[in-house]
Amino acid sequence: MDEKRKRLTISRRDFLKGGAIGTAALSSGLLLRSGVEAQSAPPGAKISRITLKINGAAHTLEADNRWTLLYILRDQLGLTGAKQGCDGGQCGACTVLIDGKPLYACMVLGIAAPGKEILTIEGLAKGEELHPVQQAFVEEMGYQCAFCTPGMILSAKGLLDRNPKPSETDIRQGLAGNLCRCAAYPKIIRAVTAAAKRIAS
Ligand code: FES
Ligand code: FES
Repeated sequence: MDEKRKRLTISRRDFLKGGAIGTAALSSGLLLRSGVEAQSAPPGAKISRITLKINGAAHTLEADNRWTLLYILRDQLGLTGAKQGCDGGQCGACTVLIDGKPLYACMVLGIAAPGKEILTIEGLAKGEELHPVQQAFVEEMGYQCAFCTPGMILSAKGLLDRNPKPSETDIRQGLAGNLCRCAAYPKIIRAVTAAAKRIAS
């Protein structure tokens, strides 16, 4: 299964594991693609009080059951590092780590995320000290416009946590769910290779 399909599959499975509320939202047709769409949708949404653990901190909010995790991160909590690209599980710009797995935040409902460890790009550095993957992207200039970079870095972290010594093929496969519209792939692959060496040293 390719990386993109895996992420979508995991997201859907996690959604279904999210319990009765999430299932009810899906079966009643309340699952919309984005929080923005959800906000302007006709009334009838259910509001739930949820607590999300993001970057080690608990965030409690009243959430429309149709809101995606991406909408909550960006528009409710001001964590704009996860980018809204396609908003439909196609580009990877919104990638975050959920329980260590790279997932598309635009494809995960907020109500399915309580109880999980969510890591966004804002939580990766330790104070002023960049994570080795971030540092490698800076040193290798693994970006052009950098719109895809937060998602790329988190996918790379997920990959290196699973496979600390990836081959170039492993890196290409591990990042297959992230698109770079600037086509900076050679520099991105160099950066991930350098990050693996940096972590190993
Ligand atoms: S914005 Fe989520 S995959 Fe494109
Ligand atoms: S660097 Fe521009 S989208 Fe990747």
